[in-house]
Amino acid sequence: MKLKPFVDPLPIPRILKPKERTKDKTYYEVTMRQIQHQFHSKLPPTTCWGYEGQIPGPTIEVEEGENVHILWKNELPDKHLLPVDHTLHGSHEGMPEVRTVVHLHGANVDPESDGHPDAWFTNGFAKCGPRFTQKVYKYPNNQPATTLWYHDHALGITRLNVYAGLAGMYIIRNEQERALNLPSGIYEIPLVIQDKTFNEDGSLFYPSNVENPPPEYPPVSITPGFAGDTIIVNGKAWPYLEVEQRKYRFRILNGSNERFYRMRLDSGQEFIQIGSDGGLLPRPVRLEEIVIGPAERADVIIDFSNQPAGTSIILTNTARTPFDFGQEPNPLTDGRIMQFRVIPRTSEDTSSIPQFLTNIKRFDECDIVRTRDITLDVGTDKYTRLLFLLNNHDFIDGVTEDPAAGDIECWRIINAGLGVHPIHIHQVQFQVLDRTPFDTAVYNQTGRIRFTGEPELPPANERGWKDTVQAYPGQITRVAMRFGPYTGRYVYHCHILEHEDHDMMRPFDVVERKCIPVDSCCKK
Ligand code: C2O
Ligand code: CU
Ligand code: CU
Repeated sequence: MKLKPFVDPLPIPRILKPKERTKDKTYYEVTMRQIQHQFHSKLPPTTCWGYEGQIPGPTIEVEEGENVHILWKNELPDKHLLPVDHTLHGSHEGMPEVRTVVHLHGANVDPESDGHPDAWFTNGFAKCGPRFTQKVYKYPNNQPATTLWYHDHALGITRLNVYAGLAGMYIIRNEQERALNLPSGIYEIPLVIQDKTFNEDGSLFYPSNVENPPPEYPPVSITPGFAGDTIIVNGKAWPYLEVEQRKYRFRILNGSNERFYRMRLDSGQEFIQIGSDGGLLPRPVRLEEIVIGPAERADVIIDFSNQPAGTSIILTNTARTPFDFGQEPNPLTDGRIMQFRVIPRTSEDTSSIPQFLTNIKRFDECDIVRTRDITLDVGTDKYTRLLFLLNNHDFIDGVTEDPAAGDIECWRIINAGLGVHPIHIHQVQFQVLDRTPFDTAVYNQTGRIRFTGEPELPPANERGWKDTVQAYPGQITRVAMRFGPYTGRYVYHCHILEHEDHDMMRPFDVVERKCIPVDSCCKK
């Protein structure tokens, strides 16, 4: 299906209204429904799944520290919209086909409200997964102002549920950020970037198997990753947005299953990145190009004030798919994401881009209580299919990571493979410490790490809080985080959803700290 780009205006998801707001609690209800959504004016309506019947879901806006409760309701049909692979954990025969559970990505919440993949529930809570404990999730929002997102996380079908439409934005605001006088109101716009492929009749296409599957494969099989040929922003294919000659703030989310975006403006303009996954950066960073992997966010300002009215500017994408291998550049999508059309300003632009945004205290190596190695592994499963793992364990293997609440740990993500994996850890926002190249041939043969270069500090736009990090092949990426205050079961995983479902996701436990280390400083 060939669709003409820049035909439809960019929709802005509405802000969800709470059902009830008292001085100590804000209560929302969000219902998942099957709906018809038109992704392009020349495309017949598409059957998909949306929170509150919307693609993407409505934006939830809260204040730092606001006590938010949300009842997530499933009113979906019991037959899945997309081909279910019954060989994956969580979706074997006998399990309800349509299971949902909502995860607020990037939030520091207790495990009961984190949306554990096994805390799923079906329509009307008729059936619930083994880790289901409550219907109403609690979000204390005790974290800096930032852009989070909520999405489905049901075991074995996360890729299908998110692709079917179950994703939306969640914004935390605070006074400190308001005082910065960044572009706001109608000049602050969320951009949820996803990719889809449509059949001629407008229905969603998602592959039911690899091309020419070998006879050992199950009839419906997960693939190592799926990238759609149509880029969708806020629910429209290649939309356009009229922008005044002034500054805008865009909260960009990569909500795709596996596609990365290597973004540029074809006007040659720079992005001014002000925030990452977990909040504002210490200072604005000017960039010609920004690369975001699945689940990552980039909070940017684009200044259109020097662009003549009538100019059109394209937000382009040159990322290879799958990232760093496959055909180049960016097969199938024309390399375009959306278009900006510059129009005259309607009023003075009084917003500013301050030199300093926020204070971020870097973790001190001396405060790291423990370092763990997390290897990214590729093997095959019993059907001979490609299987991605973490530390060579699958999801149902027992817990091997058990950080204590309050402790700062360093996780070394060791990627001796060929692709970039966006690695996400629940409960925390972390800091990227550095990336060091190592000899993968030696490592793959002997398991020994031989560094081939000096550690490289993260670029300026990665010196803020992150919850998802691009782990490049041939490099060891080190992140550091403080766990807690909550204890209990969480997960970490690759955010390429096909990897997460098969089986690049692991449980971890945050445990009570046993004793306070007397002297945690490294005096080696
Ligand atoms: Cu965005 Cu575990 O998820
Ligand atoms: Cu998450
Ligand atoms: Cu991966």
